[in-house]
Amino acid sequence: MDRKAAEIGALENENETQQDKDQEEQVVNPWEVSAKEGGKIDYDKLIDKFGCQRLDPSLIDRVERLTSRRAHIFLRRGVFFAHRDFNDILDAFERGEKFYLYTGRGPSSEALHLGHLIPFMFTQYLQEVFKVPLVIQLTDDEKFLWKNLTVEECRRLARENAKDIIACGFDIRRTFIFSDFDYVGGAFYRNMVEISKRVTCNQVVGIFGFIGEDHIGKYSFPPVQAAPSFPSSFPHLFSGKDNLRCLIPCAIDQDPYFRMTRDVAPRIGYHKPALIESLFFPALQGETGKMSASDPNSAIYVTDSEKDIKNKINKYAFSGGQDSIEKHRQLGANLEVDIPIKYLSFFLEDDAELEHTKKEYGAGRMLTGEVKQRLIEVLTKLVERHRRARAAVTDEMVDAFMAVRPLPNMFN
Ligand code: TYM
Ligand code: TRP
Repeated sequence: MDRKAAEIGALENENETQQDKDQEEQVVNPWEVSAKEGGKIDYDKLIDKFGCQRLDPSLIDRVERLTSRRAHIFLRRGVFFAHRDFNDILDAFERGEKFYLYTGRGPSSEALHLGHLIPFMFTQYLQEVFKVPLVIQLTDDEKFLWKNLTVEECRRLARENAKDIIACGFDIRRTFIFSDFDYVGGAFYRNMVEISKRVTCNQVVGIFGFIGEDHIGKYSFPPVQAAPSFPSSFPHLFSGKDNLRCLIPCAIDQDPYFRMTRDVAPRIGYHKPALIESLFFPALQGETGKMSASDPNSAIYVTDSEKDIKNKINKYAFSGGQDSIEKHRQLGANLEVDIPIKYLSFFLEDDAELEHTKKEYGAGRMLTGEVKQRLIEVLTKLVERHRRARAAVTDEMVDAFMAVRPLPNMFN
């Protein structure tokens, strides 16, 4: 027991054990996101528990200064709200050192939902303003191990998802997309075993909550997600650049993988990867969980038609408005629990309009129907734009993004 405790304690701020999970009702890990019964996800508590840092306004100011651009809406609105060592990335950048971006997607469904777009839209912005290379991992192996899907189906979904990802506007001169089933091997595999050798069973049990009955595929997967954090996993891109730093944008559910990675990094001679982490885009039913691909009525997909979007929002989007007009005029809406306002705060670009809407709706001068109407417009436009961009992505483009090739202009 002592040895186990010592090993788990050795992990940086590793204190989310299975025992904690049983005692607390909020669960956040790569496979499950749920708030306490009837409550909302408590992000302050998550920051404490995971041991990451809050992204404060001074860092956002710094990003604006370094990039000479207005900060992305997801930074201004606090959608990306937590980080690990993002300040080190900015310090290095200020000294003229570049870095690379790493993000990914587990291809478990045909269509992405709006929540999935968030890290990709944000990563596209980071790539554009910092002019840095990006690697995108499609964990088709992970989904094979966790879901009831065949290897072939996972590979097919990886390619389909790659089209949605490419549609987010990544620059082919700076982007390498890879599927684990196709790319893992060589230098990447050598890093995987360097990592595996330095993580005990007790540690993965502590971090991920695996149990004795789980198949060993689960135990062996975390090094696959960890390896892209090290530049030497991509010799065609970063040969001789072992000192290059890595920044990982993702939602905070992925943090456990990277706590493990950060613990191992200095022991095998690399910088710890830095992270910039987002809130979850909530389900239509309310902020008790994340928008999830497995419940079609909880999510708006990038494949939904205008009519689907309209129906889902009108029918399912949880409203903080009062149940009669008289009461609403008198009391106003409860903005804390209102999903249309929450969604607008992610996607309505105009800061002044958002403030105005909150004020009027909160005071009962605006009704839920009007706010939902505006949200339907905003999301329809977003989904339409995505659909057009995706339709323009050909199989040849997917092959081109996924080709193992040098990117000579990736830092220019
Ligand atoms: P996956 O496919 O579950 O999710 C892909 C990315 O989307 C984020 N995400 C969300 N963000 C906001 N709101 C939501 N409702 C929401 N649902 C999902 C996820 O956090 C993730 O950033 N194992 C990973 C694949 C992966 C990866 C990585 C992710 C491999 N390497 C490195 C991030 C960074 C997965 O299956 O993600
Ligand atoms: N594990 C993630 C999932 O199940 C996918 C993923 C792989 C990922 N690598 C990543 C997400 C890096 C963010 C960053 O969805």
